[in-house]
Amino acid sequence: MKRLTTEKIDRLIPYPPGKPIEELERELGITGSIKLASNENPIGPSPMALKAIMDNLNRLNRYPDGSSYYLKEKLSKVFNLPMERILVGNGSNELIELAIRTFLTPGEEVIQALPTFLVYEKVVNGAGGELVSVDLKDFRIDLDAVKRAITPKTKLIFINNPNNPTGTGLSKEELEDFIKSVPKDIVIVLDEAYIEFSSDRVAKGTDFLDKHNRLIILRTFSKLYGLAGLRIGYGFSSPEIVDYINRVRQPFNSNLLAQAAAVAALDDTEFVNKTLTLVNEGLKYLYKRLDEMGLSYIPTETNFFLIKVPSGAKNIYQLMLREGVIIRSMESYGLKDHIRVNVGLPEENERFINTLKKAIRSL
Ligand SMILES: Cc1ncc(COP(=O)(O)O)c(C=O)c1O
Repeated sequence: MKRLTTEKIDRLIPYPPGKPIEELERELGITGSIKLASNENPIGPSPMALKAIMDNLNRLNRYPDGSSYYLKEKLSKVFNLPMERILVGNGSNELIELAIRTFLTPGEEVIQALPTFLVYEKVVNGAGGELVSVDLKDFRIDLDAVKRAITPKTKLIFINNPNNPTGTGLSKEELEDFIKSVPKDIVIVLDEAYIEFSSDRVAKGTDFLDKHNRLIILRTFSKLYGLAGLRIGYGFSSPEIVDYINRVRQPFNSNLLAQAAAVAALDDTEFVNKTLTLVNEGLKYLYKRLDEMGLSYIPTETNFFLIKVPSGAKNIYQLMLREGVIIRSMESYGLKDHIRVNVGLPEENERFINTLKKAIRSL
């Protein structure tokens, strides 16, 4: 019998998503639960994006524009970059996968910092690559250690800035030195899924596009713009890299409604400002309450953060789940004592704190 899969694929475990609310409520026989586990926008989708979706519903008999022309045109104006430097994908997840599918040959090495976004590991192992993981230092990406991990077999490096799940960010100086020092034949994927939430201290990849021809910057409409369910992401790179990825991708990889919604969302400054204010105020509230409880946490540059809990993250996760508060245990990321929570609406943040207190008391 032929082997069905490779050993690398055998060893992969399905991504542990935050449970859908409906499933959880059915299982536990409860109602009114809240989800703070997937770093989503708690306000809802951008209203301007929603209107664009409604306006385009009657065009669904047509295939989408395979070149995402209007979205690229809009991104080109917003970011002042030519359209041939822009990538559009079915979520930035697809662009992560496309970068691997386009540039990685089985046996070549990919470096990531650990813990980080679990999808990198999946796509690299799925493609027969050799994943090299470099430990974080004080919950931050250790760029010197990443550099030391480079070998002649290194083809690609993932840098998630700010990093999920730690929420920590790299400074402009750190990232610039790193990008300049990486050999020019290596592809650097700079995943900036949460960059819009970060402070001025955090480097923005667009400042370094001309420093490395094989730098790919990935962004998403899933977080700030509240469009996670629609699946639309984008990226920037050199025209050469964009051209290769366009050869590999499916012709209609981003759907018609998603393209229209994304164009509209980029103009929705009211929604963006509302979201950023909500996240900043939510973080202030949560930090204050956690300080009062004597719990330590990692200050974040994103809309989520890590909290160190007594008696193991898994226990706290289970207890909170029973109370209808869905968070993420960081056990699968190798952080047994940490939970990850994203900022919710003010009443959700308050309920999170009260439920966390109750869970800790009951242990
Ligand atoms: C670091 C990171 N990159 C990418 C993504 C995926 O985003 P998208 O919804 O655009 O596929 C996420 C989503 O959780 C993420 O945390």
